[in-house]
Amino acid sequence: MTTLTEPIATTATDGLAQTAALLGTGDAINGRERAITSDLTAVAHDLARGRYQSPLRYPGAKSALAPVIARVITSAKQSREVPEVNLLVEPFAGGASASLRMIGDGTVDRILLADADPLVTAFWQVAAEDTERLVDRMHDEWSRFVRHGGPSAVERWDYWRNWIPPIELAPRDRRLAAAMQCLFLNRTTFSGILHGKAGPLGGRAQESKYPIGCRWNPDALTERIRYVGHLYDVGRLVDVWRKDWRSTLDDVPERYPQLLPSRVIAYLDPPYIDKSSLLYRTSFDPRGGYGGQVEDGPEKDTDSLHLGLAHYLRAKAQFRWLLSYDNHPSLTESPWLYARDRMNPSESDRVNLGVRRWQISKRLVGTRYSAAGKVGKRAADELLITTLPPSTVPIDEQLRVLP
Ligand SMILES: C[S@@+](CC[C@H](N)C(=O)[O-])C[C@H]1O[C@@H](n2cnc3c(N)ncnc32)[C@H](O)[C@@H]1O
Repeated sequence: MTTLTEPIATTATDGLAQTAALLGTGDAINGRERAITSDLTAVAHDLARGRYQSPLRYPGAKSALAPVIARVITSAKQSREVPEVNLLVEPFAGGASASLRMIGDGTVDRILLADADPLVTAFWQVAAEDTERLVDRMHDEWSRFVRHGGPSAVERWDYWRNWIPPIELAPRDRRLAAAMQCLFLNRTTFSGILHGKAGPLGGRAQESKYPIGCRWNPDALTERIRYVGHLYDVGRLVDVWRKDWRSTLDDVPERYPQLLPSRVIAYLDPPYIDKSSLLYRTSFDPRGGYGGQVEDGPEKDTDSLHLGLAHYLRAKAQFRWLLSYDNHPSLTESPWLYARDRMNPSESDRVNLGVRRWQISKRLVGTRYSAAGKVGKRAADELLITTLPPSTVPIDEQLRVLP
């Protein structure tokens, strides 16, 4: 687990909780969860089949894994049990690359994004619903502060790093500014990391050949932000929730009772076991799910949250799920994680919630990712675990069974 080199004055928990409180009713777009429309309008946007669709760069982003996940879901759709996917829920949305891909290529009918980080959700909510103001704001930041780089760009980076939503701004403007903070820091910080440890691209002296603006292409960002707005307009992006993963999974059946549980799938991409507290502002922490970087034993606490997720998915999940993880041996060895091959809900959850005893399939996927602290990309196996119908989960060179 990570050792911090800098003292933390306040825990990330305090900062995120404060941001969330100042952003007010951000639990859903427009403050209230949106209903699903039954008439689905086609996705009509050039990016629908593009390779890069997300406006956010994300450590561990799933753009490489997304086609594999799409393949697994498409294969499941050949079965009697999952003939179509009316909703894909992504409770750890981050850069949402898998959801964006699968809504663009028609693998799923609708997507619902959720994340516990208030900056991340402010970004997606504003991109969906206040699209053109965010595009304008992004161009303004680019031309005034980023484009020419140098000390004034680093000064602006410091401004956003220390910014907290001012109470005197109107709620809509506060949300827009929080979305801009997320986008600014994501595009100008090493590895797109939002929390307090990583520095600006190009270093504080800006002597690198990769300066602060090198990951900020205003035209490409305009197109990607507008793609999100389009998906929301045509009802394909149903909503963006600011919630802990557990509330998201609990609330979907309650909020959308008209959807058949067999036609809803959750794709979960939790923070990695090895690096989670280093990479994300919001890592698994039992004291509220935020921060993780505390002096009294993040390792144990982080572990207990991974165990909590595993317990929920094994015993409580009301719809099928697909989970991706770094290939950490404990995941498939521990009976408290994913060693078992079948869900084991209690009798009362089976009767009252309709939780099923689905079989659990596991596959290894070769992929490449860049992680904080590493230069360049390295090959790594990703673990895919799923309750999709086992006979439909492919086995081949791309999706290998565990040794
Ligand atoms: C691995 S990233 C997701 C990356 C994403 N799949 C992509 O392709 O960009 C994990 C995300 O989980 C979020 N997160 C961490 N703890 C959470 C929690 N308890 N509930 C919901 N989201 C959480 C983090 O804010 C982060 O955005």
